[in-house]
Amino acid sequence: MNYKNYISNRAQRLMGSLGKQTSVPIEGLINLGSGTPDFLPPQYVLDAMQEAVASGRIQYTAWTGIPELRNAIAEKLKTENGINIDPNSQLIVTSGAQEALMVTLMTLLDDGDNVITPSPHYDEYSRDAKILGGELIPVATTRESNFTIDVADLEAAITDRTKGIIVVTPNNPTGTVLPESVLQDIAQLAIEKDLLVVSDEIYEYYVFDDHKHISMSTLPNMAERTITINSFSKSFGMTGLRLGYIAAPSEIVEAMLPFHHAMMVCANSVTQWGGVAVMSESREWFSEKLAEYDRRRKLWMQTLDEIGLPYGEPQGAYYVFIDIRPTGLTSQEFVNRARTEARLVFQPGTIGGGAGEGFIRGALTKGSPEFEEGLDRFKDFVGGLLS
Ligand SMILES: Cc1ncc(COP(=O)(O)O)c(C=O)c1O
Repeated sequence: MNYKNYISNRAQRLMGSLGKQTSVPIEGLINLGSGTPDFLPPQYVLDAMQEAVASGRIQYTAWTGIPELRNAIAEKLKTENGINIDPNSQLIVTSGAQEALMVTLMTLLDDGDNVITPSPHYDEYSRDAKILGGELIPVATTRESNFTIDVADLEAAITDRTKGIIVVTPNNPTGTVLPESVLQDIAQLAIEKDLLVVSDEIYEYYVFDDHKHISMSTLPNMAERTITINSFSKSFGMTGLRLGYIAAPSEIVEAMLPFHHAMMVCANSVTQWGGVAVMSESREWFSEKLAEYDRRRKLWMQTLDEIGLPYGEPQGAYYVFIDIRPTGLTSQEFVNRARTEARLVFQPGTIGGGAGEGFIRGALTKGSPEFEEGLDRFKDFVGGLLS
């Protein structure tokens, strides 16, 4: 059979875009670029999910999520972020932020529409836009300005088909935390040009030094034009449980619901009870995790300073965006050679678009002693390239 005849143009546009996933761990490889945190949520969260199974809470829930979780999220948004929403009409519990992004872009984009975003950026946004016949317009940022967007560049990228601006802070892959003044400029631009802002805040808990996470929706006049996306994956070590949420104006939430329903009906019921448990208790336990990630961040910076490779200041999230241009290799060449010659795994900076060429994404997610062993190998490997 010629299966190509059956595969939609939409699917063909996307074929190969994910690359190949290695699902079997390979002996001796150390992944220094992984986006998966290396900790679990507290035991009471696991217990809550076991309890949900034991008591048979495994049927469909309300499409937008169980009321207990919606209320807990609304309370969290109010007390931690300063965002006030009605949990009954302005919130959808999703299967991770990933579903939230797709539902959001499905709701915003018609064929030929676009959204703009500072780049390097999280790669899924461009795939989602492409699936929908729309476009993600990347606006390049540079290491020299620490990957902070120049709002004039954002403005120049706006077309008459632009529906919104995607802001991810703290950022994957650059580790940049946008300061309040830049968020205000973006907000001002959105208001002037009458655009929506999609604010992906899934790394909100990972902020280092004096950097602060500020939710876009709390800036003056922004609540009505902000779609806030968040997730339990990164903050609570729950990536495989697939739990996230969208908070948005009620008319937008209403328009999103058929897409959420078509893909998921509802988020996993058991996982939702885990979400209630993690949200209902103090998040004090996380400060220990953050301190450990900060220790690794400092070790990364020390290593890079020692070998003389520049990098964007890792201000938040758990990534270090490393400038490998002094080695003379492209991102992909560096990643390939690091794998075969040093048994190290990284993400090429180009997964975040063309502006990431010449960079690799390192991460803070590997624990001791492999982390230190990985850094030693990295030092030797780069030392060899630079000598
Ligand atoms: C910026 C960003 N948004 C969304 C996601 C998706 O996260 P989730 O596990 O909640 O689907 C990721 C995952 O790496 C991410 O880095």
